[in-house]
Amino acid sequence: MSNSLLKTLILKKKNSPIWFMRQAGRYLPEYQIIRKKNKNFINFCLNVKDATKVSLQPIKRYNLDAAIVFSDILLILKAAGQNIKFKENIGPILENYKPKVFYNINNENFIKKLKNVYKIIKNIKKKLPKEKSLIGFAGAPWTLLVYMINKSSPKENRKLLLNFKKEEILKILKRLEDLTYIHCKEQIRAGADVIQLFDSWAGLIEKNDLKLFCINPNKNIVKKIKKEFPSTGVVCFPKGIKNNINAFIKEVRPDGINLDYDINLNDLNLNNDVVFQGGLNPRFLLGSQQRMFKEAKRYLDFFKNKPYIFNLGHGILPQTRPESVKKLVEFVRSYNL
Ligand code: CP3
Repeated sequence: MSNSLLKTLILKKKNSPIWFMRQAGRYLPEYQIIRKKNKNFINFCLNVKDATKVSLQPIKRYNLDAAIVFSDILLILKAAGQNIKFKENIGPILENYKPKVFYNINNENFIKKLKNVYKIIKNIKKKLPKEKSLIGFAGAPWTLLVYMINKSSPKENRKLLLNFKKEEILKILKRLEDLTYIHCKEQIRAGADVIQLFDSWAGLIEKNDLKLFCINPNKNIVKKIKKEFPSTGVVCFPKGIKNNINAFIKEVRPDGINLDYDINLNDLNLNNDVVFQGGLNPRFLLGSQQRMFKEAKRYLDFFKNKPYIFNLGHGILPQTRPESVKKLVEFVRSYNL
């Protein structure tokens, strides 16, 4: 009944699955070929044929245990009226957000704008062997808010919220929570087995605001998904949250938690039934093989007696050699034999 990630996340089996964040991406020559034909990144994410193909590339190359849909967290903002361009070597550049569209777009129209994402998920599911999992994802409300108001990737947090009252921030977060949940729900209905919520900028939040800006929105979304779809796995990734990760796990209660590379393993409270995923710094894939294996082994040894999903502490870097990923997969698989 259950595929590889669900066995780990829901049944708590020690079946040692492997997948990578940004496993489909610029480091793969076969990705670059299709990317060249899709100059506009947002349109690429909505190109059913090519996005399906690219999602399956890393599965073909490395026989990984899960595919993640090729998409982007910023599509939700685009669907809510905020146009986005991707500039090479800079990243996303967003227009001002439009409160009228953001607050008033109805669910049906919002879903319609994202319907190709759901088609892509259906297509991947058809082509994916049954024992492999399909991961859908979304940005958590705080991280989406950061892009909404900063209009590009932030460098620092000091000025980020300067022009906003707390009530206004909470109102935007609440709306983003609703939109994010709708997007997760439609991905699950299309065939996603697991949802990962990316809170990539959780590290920018002041400790006093962490509960309202990060923990509560993640908690509400996890709760809604688990209530309506109890057999779907939910993994959270609050990047940069440091020691607050223990409070996050306790409050949010996701099935899985992705560790970032700054989390000190010895700080983790292991007295809960969350499944840990990832952690290895993607930079170790750029250096010597010996060092990469040594660092990967630290995670494998630490989680030896627990269900653990092998992954990284952030996405695969564009300059990574595909051969290093292959060697790492072989190393992890032979460790787990
Ligand atoms: O992991 C996967 O393979 C699935 C696809 C995926 C992408 N973006 C494709 C992508 C996922 C899960 C994301 C999530 C995402 N997008 C996050 C959260 C995770 C994280 O990285 O912290 C964020 C913050 C974004 C927003 C975003 N998209 C940025 C800031 C950028 C530019 C910087 C960068 O890393 O390139 C993107 C572009 C992007 N999203 C690319 C890919 C493959 C590169 C596009 C290209 O030029 O080919």
